[in-house]
Amino acid sequence: MSLVDGLQDMKVKALEELSRADTPETLEQWRIAYLGSKGAVKNAMAQLKDIPREEKGAYGKTANIIKGELTKAFSNAQAKIGSQGKAKVPAQDVTLPGKPPQVGHGHIITQTINELCDIFGRMGFEAVYGPEVEDEQHNFVDLNIPPEHPARDALENFYIDGDTMLRSQTSTVQIRIMENSEPPIRVVAPGRVYRPDTVDATHSFMFYQIEGLYVDEGVTMADLRTCVDQFCKAYFGDEVQTRFRPSFFPFTEPSAEVDVLFHYDDGSTRWIELGGCGMVDPNVLTAVNIDPEKYTGWAFGLGIERMVMRKHNVPDIRMLYESDVRFLKQF
Ligand code: DAH
Repeated sequence: MSLVDGLQDMKVKALEELSRADTPETLEQWRIAYLGSKGAVKNAMAQLKDIPREEKGAYGKTANIIKGELTKAFSNAQAKIGSQGKAKVPAQDVTLPGKPPQVGHGHIITQTINELCDIFGRMGFEAVYGPEVEDEQHNFVDLNIPPEHPARDALENFYIDGDTMLRSQTSTVQIRIMENSEPPIRVVAPGRVYRPDTVDATHSFMFYQIEGLYVDEGVTMADLRTCVDQFCKAYFGDEVQTRFRPSFFPFTEPSAEVDVLFHYDDGSTRWIELGGCGMVDPNVLTAVNIDPEKYTGWAFGLGIERMVMRKHNVPDIRMLYESDVRFLKQF
């Protein structure tokens, strides 16, 4: 058998094996065996140097032709198996039940703010918002809080620079609204406030308040008492009782603290403080160019986390900020 015949035999064997390769894996094995860097075709080419001179020409030519034929046959087989491979992917079973996408929901604090705005909305209050980065004018000066007041201590506040600070109370929004509107004014302003408190189960350096403000002719403390009581009953349930405890705030006179009486499963009861309120001090009305001889008003500022924790039995304020899905999912 001549050397060239040997090449032809190799080709026949290769094509015959190729015709049996019917998966991408067997095809790849075939490619390595024949066309790979250590494959049969390469070997045949490598032998060229040992072949007697008179046969070299014919051998080389045949080897090249065979290489071309096998390469082409391989591409054809690949194209065929490739398309078969795709067809083998299982078709989508459209009768299977679908997987519903997981839909999130508002954070319990957001939900609560919406609920509070709804309740006050039914009483005729419009929800308004003010900036969290404030100046001393709105956070203190116009609220009748004098420079020597302990609440103005630099260590009690987050100052940014000069007189710019993170607001320490939503009462700032009272000033912003009164500056820009005429009575009658009836607004609630929910939002974040910041104080450098040490974090524990009941304190945080950032928390939420909702401010209320009502200014008109003939507004009285009795209206305030009724409004706060009605609000607490709407939010916590008709069974709660509320009380006003005399207190002091520079921006209200008289001032009171709002307590709510809760009944516990073991039969005990406890008064919980929700925030402060009072009749808007005439100095505050004057600061925003509202005539205190003509108009009176009242205001309140209540802690939103307090409400959430009480209503939903949340034992630690930090749970509200940790974004633990196991906690958040419950609401
Ligand atoms: N701003 C007060 C605080 O953060 C709460 C407060 C008390 C708000 C009396 C009021 C008010 O509007 O009238 O402690």
